[in-house]
Amino acid sequence: MLHKDQIYQKKSRRIDNFDFGQKTTQVFDDMLNRSVPFYSEMQRMIGEIASEFAVEGTRIYDLGCSTCSTFLSINDPIPQGVTFIGVDSSREMLKKGEEKLLQSGFSRKYELLCQDLNKGVPISNASVVIMNFTLQFIRPLYRERVIAEIASGLNNNGCLILIEKVLSQNSTINRLFIKFYYDFKKRNGYSELEIAQKREALENILVPYHFDENRELLLQNGFKGCDMFFRWYNFCGVLAIK
Ligand SMILES: C[S@@+](CC[C@H](N)C(=O)[O-])C[C@H]1O[C@@H](n2cnc3c(N)ncnc32)[C@H](O)[C@@H]1O
Repeated sequence: MLHKDQIYQKKSRRIDNFDFGQKTTQVFDDMLNRSVPFYSEMQRMIGEIASEFAVEGTRIYDLGCSTCSTFLSINDPIPQGVTFIGVDSSREMLKKGEEKLLQSGFSRKYELLCQDLNKGVPISNASVVIMNFTLQFIRPLYRERVIAEIASGLNNNGCLILIEKVLSQNSTINRLFIKFYYDFKKRNGYSELEIAQKREALENILVPYHFDENRELLLQNGFKGCDMFFRWYNFCGVLAIK
């Protein structure tokens, strides 16, 4: 059953930093569906791209897998001989992910690992790595190391599918993109108050880079090429190849 995200509906005197604990986990699938434009199309594209790179006998990693929605939506196009590994630092998210996989009769070989990516990226024999709205939560200090470790754990010609919120270099465009994004959230039933309180909770927790900064990060840390495959205002999907 999908629980409705009402976390920021009531006015709070003090807004705590956003986290991925029990309260968020319970409503997370609804939160993503109403807060990420074209979420299901992005998931379909991830499956389509991943199926071109997935190799039998290797692994696909989803870093920041949350409730394993991505594994469920990319399962069909990926060969059965590929193992799925989900990594997340939230035990609550992983528990919900495990329940969803069991409920849907997911029969592929998989593992879910609880790991803080700020402390290291546990990757080996990977043909595909997915990072869907997770790098933006990694502390900037560690991002270079995280990308370098992903590249080093990927097999040659393997890929990283990276989706992030990004900033524009131009402040007018930036403001416009953010306004259009908040309009999208309003169309999906979030009030001005909910949007404002969530923005405050995410300040300093979600730190987006410019698209050019992410590109440099990839090209200077082990990837030979990358390009954008999705863009909706400040939402951006990048495919990087080792
Ligand atoms: C926005 S969610 C990702 C959504 C998910 N990839 C999807 O498409 O459904 C970010 C996830 O990253 C996880 N996360 C944040 N910081 C992390 C870290 N340092 N190490 C591991 N996971 C982290 C959170 O627990 C959360 O589940």
